[in-house]
Amino acid sequence: SGPVTLLAIESSCDETSCAISRDEVILSNIIAGQAVHEQYGGVVPELASRAHMQNIVPVVDAALKKAGVSISELTAIAFTQSPGLIGSLLVGSQFAKSLAQALDIPLLSVHHMQAHVLANLIVPASAARSAASSPVASTSTAASPGPASPASREAARPSFPFLCLTVSGGHTQIVLCHSPLKMEVIGETLDDAAGEAFDKSAKLLGLPYPGGPLIDKYAREGDAGRFPFPEPQIPGLNFSFSGLKTAILYFLQENVAKDAGFVAANLPDICASIQGRIISILLNKYRKAARETGVTDLCIAGGVSANSGLRKAFGEMGRNNGWNTFIPPFEYCTDNAAMIAITGYYKYLAGEFAPLSVSASARAEW
Ligand code: KG4
Ligand code: ZN
Repeated sequence: SGPVTLLAIESSCDETSCAISRDEVILSNIIAGQAVHEQYGGVVPELASRAHMQNIVPVVDAALKKAGVSISELTAIAFTQSPGLIGSLLVGSQFAKSLAQALDIPLLSVHHMQAHVLANLIVPASAARSAASSPVASTSTAASPGPASPASREAARPSFPFLCLTVSGGHTQIVLCHSPLKMEVIGETLDDAAGEAFDKSAKLLGLPYPGGPLIDKYAREGDAGRFPFPEPQIPGLNFSFSGLKTAILYFLQENVAKDAGFVAANLPDICASIQGRIISILLNKYRKAARETGVTDLCIAGGVSANSGLRKAFGEMGRNNGWNTFIPPFEYCTDNAAMIAITGYYKYLAGEFAPLSVSASARAEW
């Protein structure tokens, strides 16, 4: 049998995305964001599902065009079945089911959080192209092992078992990954997600939504040791961020009461201190997880893995302990359909197909 060509759809929150893959290689990954939510300071579910309905056909069209694939070449359709906003999931799942039925090809239902983890196994088309052309490249005298060379790409993928810290606007989990389809959540947040901790802190500082990237930006010029926010003492490998949010709220109220210009005058130090504490909460538990499991290949995924302070501290933690660290390219960290495609591919290989009667679900077990 020939290569497995998948069309994958992700619509769990506020990005409409479609990817086309051939085996483990991503040929295209189109993502349409939804600017409509900015003015509300967060994602409005009803507006999100309407925007998905408007976006889905053009996004699917663009993904097929960019990949140079026609629908008659598709082997199967993969889609995000859960978890997420139900109205948003329904648009993607109905579209995927209709397409699978119309083309009479199998359907693959994917768990969004499992997909974030497997984003670490994606082979981007650029790496696959350079692998195909490597015999030519290696005969050239000046050939250097660039980042896209097949050997370094191989080295850039974690081996099983590996751990993944998934940090997004909706989730914070430590996952022990035994094989592509066998994963265990060994730690998770008891309240807010790490991305929410960033965004809610930013809101308290008067910054627009989503504030995570802005805290990151100001933190670069600040002193993280200036305002020591408390670190919660949570047993085991679980996280909690709600205490930090409350501590920041009281800290700001107290200081602004004394000096109305406090935030403006100290923004970089406040941001650096908040970010530093979020990072230490995350990495102290991640370090503990690595020690307890003895696993030495560690990944991070999700939108918060874009944070420059987290990336730096994560790399340092790896070097200090002799662990290998992996971060997917940014476009595969935030919500995207490429990660749905790679997960669908492993499900296809395992023969785990979904019936057309499968329905989307806001919450679901692994
Ligand atoms: O994975 P993602 O795109 O969507 C969800 O599934 O939630 O994650 C979005 C989250 C937001 O909370 C956003 O503020 C955060 O990722 N984020 C960041 C940075 N870039 C995105 N947080 C901190 N620093 C960043 N550079
Ligand atoms: Zn996500």
